[in-house]
Amino acid sequence: MTLWPRTLLWRSVLLIAGLLVVAHLAWLQIFRASEIEPRALQAAQQVISVVNLTRAALVTADPGRRYALLDELAQREGIQIYAGDPDEAVPALPNRPFLRIMAAQLRERLGEQTRMTLEREGIAGLWVSFRIDTDEYWVSLPRGRIERNEPLRWIGWGALVLALAVIGAFMVVARINRPLRELTRAAELLGRGGTPTRVTEAGPVEIRTLARAFNQMAADIQRQDEERALLLAGVSHDLRTPLSRIRLALEMLDDRGAADLKAGVAQDIGDIDTAIGQFLDFARPIDAEQVMNQADLNTLAEAVVGRYTRHGRNVVLRTGTPAPQALRAQAFQRLLANLIDNALHHASGTVEVATAREGPLNVIEVLDRGPGIPPEDAARMLQPFTRMNSARSTSGTGLGLAIVDRITRLHGGQVLLLPREGGGLRARVELPVA
Ligand SMILES: Nc1ncnc2c1ncn2[C@@H]1O[C@H](COP(=O)(O)OP(=O)(O)OP(=O)(O)O)[C@@H](O)[C@H]1O
Ligand SMILES: [Mg+2]
Repeated sequence: MTLWPRTLLWRSVLLIAGLLVVAHLAWLQIFRASEIEPRALQAAQQVISVVNLTRAALVTADPGRRYALLDELAQREGIQIYAGDPDEAVPALPNRPFLRIMAAQLRERLGEQTRMTLEREGIAGLWVSFRIDTDEYWVSLPRGRIERNEPLRWIGWGALVLALAVIGAFMVVARINRPLRELTRAAELLGRGGTPTRVTEAGPVEIRTLARAFNQMAADIQRQDEERALLLAGVSHDLRTPLSRIRLALEMLDDRGAADLKAGVAQDIGDIDTAIGQFLDFARPIDAEQVMNQADLNTLAEAVVGRYTRHGRNVVLRTGTPAPQALRAQAFQRLLANLIDNALHHASGTVEVATAREGPLNVIEVLDRGPGIPPEDAARMLQPFTRMNSARSTSGTGLGLAIVDRITRLHGGQVLLLPREGGGLRARVELPVA
């Protein structure tokens, strides 16, 4: 699992927030670096004053009152004074810029022999040594007097900045994302063959232009669909009606001598009618049909197979236990009929139809013992108007499998034309169970 989010919204939010935090940290660093020297010098100045005053007080005080003086300094100012030894070793100062600058300043102003430490005889504080004649003394100041050390407050501010950065980034990106989401939804619907409502044409120019272009495209597609429906209705009416009139007239013809001729013409009319039927099926917008939510594949298959067996065709159905499926029932029946037609037409013998549930898939197979389709030609046969070499297939438009493929894809599934074990074709339609 990767932590990098998948959506544009959260990627952008993270990126912008990250940039803001880095910028903030950099700025903080610059600020600290630039204020550290003045702060160290100022603190050094304070310490120098304390040391000088203490020293002067000690030197000039009446020896009898020295203890009282030291006591008062400790009470009032938190400043402690101890006698020391020049040979005494004390822990070195930690190597921090602030302390380095301060120590240099103290040595410069109080003399080279001045020593500093943060701990002496187990007592923490800022310790500074000074000399009176050859005696060494140590002054101890509470560290809070010179060092500002509030990491918790900085962490608090940092967290606040981070939170503000994330919220700000979220608001910026969400504004861009909202119209994008609407567009995505509409495009998905259009891709599935639906008719989306117009998306809002508002917001920044780029988004507005995109929305307008999308609306234009959706409207064009819809107009084309309407024109196609009109065309289909026209073909259906203008070609099929005269065709049935011819067929009727042919049957009423009384000339027995031309029986062969009549049969031939009737066959041609039948072929033309079938071809027109295929054209119409192929061009018909499938999505116009209502989706049945809990369709039972077995019932639908029984209905289709029944139509063949009633006419004495050799088709058998083996039902498995497919899951209820969201289907367009008419389209599905057309799909199955096309596969059975193929098996009857391009092969001979019994045609088997089988339904099954295989994990996440519902599967319908139509099996025959004909010549089959070589694997290298399988994908091509799903294209409209493609047929195997014409010696094998005598009649047909080459639209049947294209119709099967289109209906299957509309249901989110796929068609496989597989060689059947022992010879023949195994046409397999896989539909994902919702
Ligand atoms: N069961 C099958 N066995 C062998 N070949 C097949 C089978 N089904 C299809 N084919 C081959 O695939 C080609 C394409 O099939 P498709 O159903 O698309 O067109 P068609 O059957 O020729 O015409 P129609 O539009 O009338 O169905 C067929 O011409 C045939 O050569
Ligand atoms: Mg066919």
